Amino acid sequence: MWGGFTMSVLYIRGGKPLEGELTVQGAKNSVLPILAACLLAGGPVELDNCPRLTDVAAALGILRHLGCQAGQEGHVITVDPRGAEGSAVSEEQMRSMRSSIIFLGPLLARTGQARLTYPGGCELGARPIDLHLSAIRALGCQVTEDAGGIYCRGRPVGGEVYLTLPSVGATENAMLCAVGASGDSTIVNAAREPEIVDLQGFLNALGARVRGAGSGVITVEGGRRLGGGHYTVMGDRIVAATLLAGVAAAGGHVALRGVDWRSLATVLSVFHQAGCQVASGEDRVELARDPSCPLQAVREIIHTAPYPGFPTDAQAPVMAALAASRGSTWFEENMFDSRYRHVAELRNMGADITVRGRTALVRGVERLHGARVAAADLRGGGALAVAALGARGESVLSGLHHVDRGYECLEGMLRQLGGQARREEEEPAAS
Ligand code: UD1
Repeated sequence: MWGGFTMSVLYIRGGKPLEGELTVQGAKNSVLPILAACLLAGGPVELDNCPRLTDVAAALGILRHLGCQAGQEGHVITVDPRGAEGSAVSEEQMRSMRSSIIFLGPLLARTGQARLTYPGGCELGARPIDLHLSAIRALGCQVTEDAGGIYCRGRPVGGEVYLTLPSVGATENAMLCAVGASGDSTIVNAAREPEIVDLQGFLNALGARVRGAGSGVITVEGGRRLGGGHYTVMGDRIVAATLLAGVAAAGGHVALRGVDWRSLATVLSVFHQAGCQVASGEDRVELARDPSCPLQAVREIIHTAPYPGFPTDAQAPVMAALAASRGSTWFEENMFDSRYRHVAELRNMGADITVRGRTALVRGVERLHGARVAAADLRGGGALAVAALGARGESVLSGLHHVDRGYECLEGMLRQLGGQARREEEEPAAS
């Protein structure tokens, strides 16, 4: 994170196999919509297993700005929304976290109006919100757009939402708006990600009646008064995928707890094809690779797709592991435009990767070498850490403000698994 005159960097020394057990942090992509959903609660909410992340702090800031009492102690977040009367999210808050658009649905449900600025472009390329807005319209609210942003009015009455793409954020926004609607709703072509199932679990714990999450059709009964409640956020499958990619890169044997292996099935299948041993049980997944046996390239194209396909968020960390392997692996990124920004940095570490449009060809090299590299986005940062774990020598990773959005103390997790990683303050000019 940028300080007054210094910035943090991560020193990672590679080549040491990872060993041990770790409980995976709570899921960022689950806790963020759940925090927005707190606006719908009729009483205080307590959430367990909340990761300490800058994105979570930003969401808490938005809740407080809207009039909630909200705070985090350790991994527990408490939110009391009873005083929330605000309906505008500032430009700065919208910029601080891309998924702040998720507050639109619950704000309309709570106050009958919402004023937001555009979340704008981000490090993954253009991220439109047209599906969010058409869902809100389909639920009976008016949406006006001008240069200053988005102004929405009217309490949702419910209705049929047909998503042309199974967008995660638009599905969540529609669910949250529909829960506060006076009538019933159906969301068709809904995203099926596990985080949407978690959001349904939370809403139902408050007294909502939402059915079908995890399938392509979600139904929501409107007109129910929600109370407060207690909920435990699911484990983070992308953090788990990143750590497993680290073991694949460095070798060793690691067991991760607190994450459902089924949510990682496509990622585990890739590691298995690459020659790793994979074992899974209830709430636990293990990965092992003998450091003396190199990773093998994966024969089928690794193409990212909506769940249950291969997650776009795991593409960069898995590519980083396969950069040092025997043979060539093809990747195809189908979800976002600018999701190969880690490639240039991996090349600085000795990787042989060619990108053409949405495809990337990774020609495995024997070993990467340590280098000074900069994260350009969150999962790209995770990928560089993975590469550094397998590389010869030391790497220095900057751009940690991206990493800290989604990994709670990445260096601590790596150290817990026997990795050599430390955070230090540096003069920016030195990077
Ligand atoms: C969420 C995740 C992100 C993950 C992504 C895809 C959170 C906080 N973030 O992002 O980590 O990479 O799902 O799994 O949960 N689209 C439109 N119009 C819209 C909305 C989306 O065209 O109104 C397009 C996007 O440009 C993208 C695709 O739909 O190409 C999928 O995006 P979406 O599922 O909405 O991703 P997010 O919810 O932003």
